[in-house]
Amino acid sequence: MASKKILLSGVKPTGRPHVGNYFGAMKQFVELQNEFESYIFIADLHALTTVQNKEELEENTAGVLLDYMAIGLDPKNVTIYKQSDVPQVAELAWIFNCLTTVPYLERAHAYKDAIANKKEPNVGLFDYPILMAADILIQDTDVVPVGQDQKQHVEIARDTAQKFNNAFGETFKLPDVLILDQVATVPGTDGRKMSKSYGNTIPLFATDEEIEKAVMSIVTDSKLPDEPKDPEKDNVFALHKLFTEGPEFAELRDRYEAGKIGYKESKEILIKNIKKVITPMRERRQALEEDKQAVLEVLKSGGKTARERAEKKMEEVRKLVGLKLY
Ligand code: ADP
Ligand code: TRP
Repeated sequence: MASKKILLSGVKPTGRPHVGNYFGAMKQFVELQNEFESYIFIADLHALTTVQNKEELEENTAGVLLDYMAIGLDPKNVTIYKQSDVPQVAELAWIFNCLTTVPYLERAHAYKDAIANKKEPNVGLFDYPILMAADILIQDTDVVPVGQDQKQHVEIARDTAQKFNNAFGETFKLPDVLILDQVATVPGTDGRKMSKSYGNTIPLFATDEEIEKAVMSIVTDSKLPDEPKDPEKDNVFALHKLFTEGPEFAELRDRYEAGKIGYKESKEILIKNIKKVITPMRERRQALEEDKQAVLEVLKSGGKTARERAEKKMEEVRKLVGLKLY
């Protein structure tokens, strides 16, 4: 049997995940876990660019692990680990740094946004894409499932692999990004991209009250129930695309176009359907939380597997670069 292709992705432990993270990326981790040899990690070193508080980082990291397990990642199929348990990525990132020019990284979106917003970015933020390239390339990754906002970072990983291969010989595979068109950018309650930093999220493990509050706050125009509405222009309908299925979805579209539904009723249907998706995952997460210590063992063992693979790759890299004399 041909060996499976390698899939790798990660999420930063920077706060509660939202349904944008789930549909844009995390759901693909679960759906593809059998088709690929999968490595899914918690990007705690990347989180340090913004989280500089011990308790917060520890709690968030354990939180992402619970999230991963609650959505259905199975540690029997997937190597689940935290980035800092593979210190070789920081070593590789340094080598990549020395092949990367400053003007090249100045073109990265996240850095450009920080400058445009008059922030004074730390060196970690500037170098973020190179650490991400190391995460990806050190495990010989074939595909990287992420949301649209991470596309440029995967392109930077490809460029970096090529730069290294040109300088030292064929060593790294060129990874492909995997983005599902329909969920590339999940909109938030205000119609902009759903993001922790915009305060427009529906948390993935939201309580019933949080779901109701978030949906009721979705911004709509002022059309009355009996006015025809273009479903493609409505923020409520945009979320129905993720949560409402089959005949119920088709009927909803017809009622929008015919002017036979008001936003209030549309929101009520959305609340019902979001609860159907979120409740079982939230309950699974609560059950896992009861035995957090046992769950943490998953990270330890995944860390060992990921570290051993990375060390093998680094042995090769050190030799090629001229760092290994004996
Ligand atoms: P955030 O952007 O909310 O800070 P992360 O950077 O941790 O979240 O992103 C984790 C994953 O979720 C990434 O693959 C990212 O592309 C994806 N993602 C984040 N927000 C969205 C969104 N609104 N729509 C689709 N995917 C998203
Ligand atoms: N930058 C990614 C995000 O914000 C997280 C991440 C770090 C990642 N390293 C990665 C994603 C490697 C995929 C592959 O979501």
